[in-house]
Amino acid sequence: MSDVVTPHAPHEEPRTPGAILWFTGLSGAGKSTLAQSVRDALAQAWRVEILDGDEIRTHLSKGLGFSKEDRDTNIRRIGLVARLLARNGVLAITTAISPYRDARDEVRALAARDGVPFIEIFAEAEIEALAERDVKGLYRKALAGELAHFTGVSDPYEPPLNPDVVVRSDRETIDESRDRILAVLAARGLLSPKAAEVAA
Ligand code: ADX
Repeated sequence: MSDVVTPHAPHEEPRTPGAILWFTGLSGAGKSTLAQSVRDALAQAWRVEILDGDEIRTHLSKGLGFSKEDRDTNIRRIGLVARLLARNGVLAITTAISPYRDARDEVRALAARDGVPFIEIFAEAEIEALAERDVKGLYRKALAGELAHFTGVSDPYEPPLNPDVVVRSDRETIDESRDRILAVLAARGLLSPKAAEVAA
């Protein structure tokens, strides 16, 4: 059977491990911007996919609302896709608010079961500053009572108790936050020499 293709030919590069970078934080706290910055730093050396909160809600989670049940469903779906990607060597970066601790912990436990490194990044921000900036105009609506169940105003946000990284877009530059995230990846042994070199 000489024509059978073996799944792992001897000349193949060893598979790079995947991982999940799980951002959590209020709307406008800088999760997506920072995710893009991390991706840009690593994209030459690692396959990176961003599972963007807003984008997921227009496709995979279309039709879901913002009740606890719907948010948990959204987080479970994102967690599943992130695990599937990470199991195949991709760095999966997620940017949903993911306001509930139990849902985040559930995703973390499932990642651990699959042997997938899970790094939780808390994008911390003062709600006053977010309401002031209010890029999408949602804080104004929520504070005026026109938007029910808006995270941080009329719906809960449970900060992580023991995040791997805390980033603050109001106190440090994007580059500083990105470098601290890359340092955690390096400390976990997740950056290949090439990735570390490219990111430096
Ligand atoms: S999560 O709670 O399920 O993780 P997700 O990140 O997908 O939330 O969606 C949050 C985005 O939806 C926000 O950035 C905002 O643009 C929009 N949004 C609309 N209504 C709400 C709401 N009630 N609470 C939070 N975000 C909302």
